[in-house]
Amino acid sequence: MRDFLKRLPKAELHLHIEGSLEPELMFALARRNGVTLPYDSVEAVRSAYEFDDLTSFLELYYQGMSVLRTAEDFHDLAMDYFRRAHGEGVVHVEMHFDPQAHLARGIELDAVMEGLSLARREAERELGMSTALIMAFLRDRPAEEAMKVLESAAPYWEMLDAVGLDSAERGHPPSKFIEVFQRARMLGIPRVAHAGEEGPPEYIREALDLLDVCRIDHGVRCLENPELVARLRDEGVVLTVCPLSNVRLKVVERMTDHPLPQLLGAGLRLTLNSDDPAYFGGGMLDNFLACHEAFGWSRETFIQLAGTAIESAFLSDKRRLELHRQLADCA
Ligand code: HPA
Ligand code: ZN
Repeated sequence: MRDFLKRLPKAELHLHIEGSLEPELMFALARRNGVTLPYDSVEAVRSAYEFDDLTSFLELYYQGMSVLRTAEDFHDLAMDYFRRAHGEGVVHVEMHFDPQAHLARGIELDAVMEGLSLARREAERELGMSTALIMAFLRDRPAEEAMKVLESAAPYWEMLDAVGLDSAERGHPPSKFIEVFQRARMLGIPRVAHAGEEGPPEYIREALDLLDVCRIDHGVRCLENPELVARLRDEGVVLTVCPLSNVRLKVVERMTDHPLPQLLGAGLRLTLNSDDPAYFGGGMLDNFLACHEAFGWSRETFIQLAGTAIESAFLSDKRRLELHRQLADCA
C-alpha cells in the first residue's frame, strides 16, 4: 500500500509554505542571517512541537519564520519543500503564504514574491511539478490591514491563484472580511478560507455566503450541523482536510477518531493535505498512510480523493487533463 500511495499522483491544495520549514533549514537560515533562535539544537526544536491547540502552534509557527528574511530564503524554503513533496509523489502544490506575518517583521512583499516565484519556475522546470499561490490574510489582524495588503499586492495580482484566510479562527468570523473578499472578487481573484477547524459550523456558512469561497479549508466541524452537511454535499463544496494537523492541534484526539469516514459517508467532496508538514509530523504521504492505517481504506478511496484534488485545483485545462491521465494510469 505504501508503494501505491507513493505512486499515486497527489495534488496538495492546503499547505502553508512557512509551515514546511524544517528545523534543519531553520538553523541554516538563522546562521546565514544572524538570527538567534531560542533553541540550541534541531532536536530541541522538534521536541518543542507539542501543541495544545491552534493558538499554541501559531506562536511557534510565527517564531520559526523569523529566520526568513531575503528572497533567497523564500526560494530555499519552497524548493526544500517541493523536492521533498516530489519524492513523495506530489505532482501539484498550492501554497498559502502569510504576507502580513512578514511585513510585520519588516520583510517586504517583493522579497517574498521574488523568492517564491523563482522556486515555482524551478519546480516546474526541474521536477515537472505545477504549483499555485494563495495569498492568505491573518484573520486575527484588522480587516483594514488585509485590505491594504491586497491593494499593495497590485503588481502581483496576476500571479495569485486565490486569496485565503488563516491564523487564529475563534472570535474572527469570515464576516469580518466581507469587503476584502469582495474586492478580491472584483479583481477576478478566486477565494478560499479556513473555516470549521476550531471555529463553529456557522463560520463555514459565512465563508460560503459572505466570502463566496470556492473551497473550504478544514471544514471538519460541519458535521455538527446536518443541514450544513446536506448543503455542502448538494453544492459539491470541496473540503481540504488535514488529518495529521487535526490530531496535532487536538481538533480530534487520535487518528481513529477523525471524522473523515463520516464526511466521506455523507457524500462530501474531500481532499487530503499536510497543512504545516514540518510541525505536524509528516507530509502528504504520511497523511495518506495515516488514513490507511486508521480507516483501512482501499485503493479506490484514495483514487477518489486524489481525483477530487485534481478536479478542484487551480490548474490549466491542459495540466488538469494530464494529471487525470496520470491518475488513470496509476489505478
Ligand atoms: N490553521 C490556521 N492558520 C494556520 C494554520 C492552520 O492550521 N497553519 C498556518 N496558519
Ligand atoms: Zn491551514
